Amino acid sequence: MKTSNFIYVIPVIAALILIQGKPAGETNQKKGSFFPVEVKKIIDSKCYGCHSAQGQSKDAKDALMWDSLPNLNKSSMVATLDDIVKELRKNGMPPEAVVKKYPEMKLPDAESKILQSWATLKADSLLR
Ligand code: HEC
Repeated sequence: MKTSNFIYVIPVIAALILIQGKPAGETNQKKGSFFPVEVKKIIDSKCYGCHSAQGQSKDAKDALMWDSLPNLNKSSMVATLDDIVKELRKNGMPPEAVVKKYPEMKLPDAESKILQSWATLKADSLLR
């Protein structure tokens, strides 16, 4: 009885170890180091829908692609981070018309501040 249980348990443990070692975890970790968890959460819920491959607006995609940001060269990255801060300072994003239609898209001040300080620190660290 005990031995047969053991035989079933081994493949389950092996599978769990394999799943944990999957590259998905690695990718998340890499992204996580560029975008801290709380920053990524805000971007995903308030910005990513437009500024990513899944976006509908060509203008939005031309203006900013979050997925490309970590791969930009230093000067483009700093310029993009500056744009983000400027846009957030004037409450420019998400666009006013969109927030009017979908109030849940509004970026609360606290979240705007988190994005701004992240982008500012990131730009500063690149310039150092
Ligand atoms: C509903 C779609 C939509 C969402 C959501 C959205 N944007 Fe945009 N964004 C646009 C469009 C369209 C443009 C290009 C036209 C413009 O500048 O208004 C743009 C442009 C920008 C630009 C470039 C501005 C410039 O003049 O260089 C930045 C930076 C930006 N967005 C940041 C953000 C951030 C940060 C968020 C999340 C808080 C966000 N966007 C959410 C649609 C969106």
